[in-house]
Amino acid sequence: MTQFKIDITFINREREMAELRNYLEGRPNSILFLYGPKSSGKTTLMYRLFEHMEAEKGYKINFLNLRKIFLTTSDDFIDAFFKSSSSGNGLKTGTRRKYSLFGLFKLDAFTEKMLKKRQEDPFLVMEREFQRLLKKGIQPVVIIDEFHKLDGLYLPDKQKRLIVELMNFFVAMTKESHLCHVIIASSDAFFIEQVYVDSKLRKTSKFMKLDYLEKEDAFAWLRDIKKYNQVQEYTLDKQQIETIWDTVGGSAWEIHSILEDLFQYSLDAIVSKIKREKVSMIADWTFGDEARNCLLRHFRKQPIRKLAELAGTGKDLLGQAVKDNILYYDPVDGIYGIQGKSLEWGIKGYFEEVISSLFLNNKKG
Ligand SMILES: Nc1ncnc2c1ncn2[C@@H]1O[C@H](COP(=O)(O)OP(=O)(O)O)[C@@H](O)[C@H]1O
Ligand SMILES: [Mg+2]
Repeated sequence: MTQFKIDITFINREREMAELRNYLEGRPNSILFLYGPKSSGKTTLMYRLFEHMEAEKGYKINFLNLRKIFLTTSDDFIDAFFKSSSSGNGLKTGTRRKYSLFGLFKLDAFTEKMLKKRQEDPFLVMEREFQRLLKKGIQPVVIIDEFHKLDGLYLPDKQKRLIVELMNFFVAMTKESHLCHVIIASSDAFFIEQVYVDSKLRKTSKFMKLDYLEKEDAFAWLRDIKKYNQVQEYTLDKQQIETIWDTVGGSAWEIHSILEDLFQYSLDAIVSKIKREKVSMIADWTFGDEARNCLLRHFRKQPIRKLAELAGTGKDLLGQAVKDNILYYDPVDGIYGIQGKSLEWGIKGYFEEVISSLFLNNKKG
């Protein structure tokens, strides 16, 4: 087996894991939306949950990560849902080929054919499968990651929006008939907001936020990289740990990236590179546009602002900043914030270096 200089790790998340398990151990009654800033660890957490629960009897967890699927029409989605298990490992029983839902639920050849010809309603097929599993004492669970990717897809008949139809179906499966648990994850704040402002969905859903790692957890990790990442070559002292936290906060991906770079560069060099990159990212984004500068000024000293404090800022511009991953939006708390600690440095540096030097040059000229 390959020996890595540095391995990946999984820090804490016990509370969040317990919350997910608690949801799964109850009778299905609501859809659970897992949301949070980009790279906060949603996908990782769900894969962990999936691994844990899969080992236990009594659950059939169907995990669909839409990031991995190329979606241009609703057919692509249905194909991914009702993936044929016979194509891969040739599961055959006599002449009847077995097909499965997510590669897990077996469908008979007839149903599969009807589905392919779109003569069967995929939602009915799913419901039948859920009922069949429940009769055997197995609780079905559906997990869909990057759910917002379905936006813009339409069902062939009557041009219905796939995302709306699926959501209605999941409400029926959870709150109404209590057949199946549904966990939906998305980093797209505006998708979550759409769900949150829809009174019907809001009443039938739970919202769980996954934020970056807490300081305590990040520190525990960095104090023992030998244990967590199997790093043998170096350790970090208190000052270095403070510096890393101060630069990227609890963003696990960025912390890991720093640990990797430390094999080659000094921490000072790494930190100043990160800050420079973020300054130029901000400069690229504003491109000198005064409205954008003005928006970022709100966040210069205070990285988190309530929606009400941003009154007067164009809603479209705020939306664009979120889409471009400059700002983060929490629809449940009605809060806007900078997307991560390192970007706070980018905004700070942008005003100190770029804007003030422009100002000085203008004065000189
Ligand atoms: N609890 C954790 N401990 C350590 N690393 C983590 C943890 N959660 C996520 N990561 C790392 O952070 C990165 C981003 O995680 P990911 O699950 O893709 O985020 P999201 O789905 O929220 O965008 C991954 O490289 C992952 O390995
Ligand atoms: Mg993800």
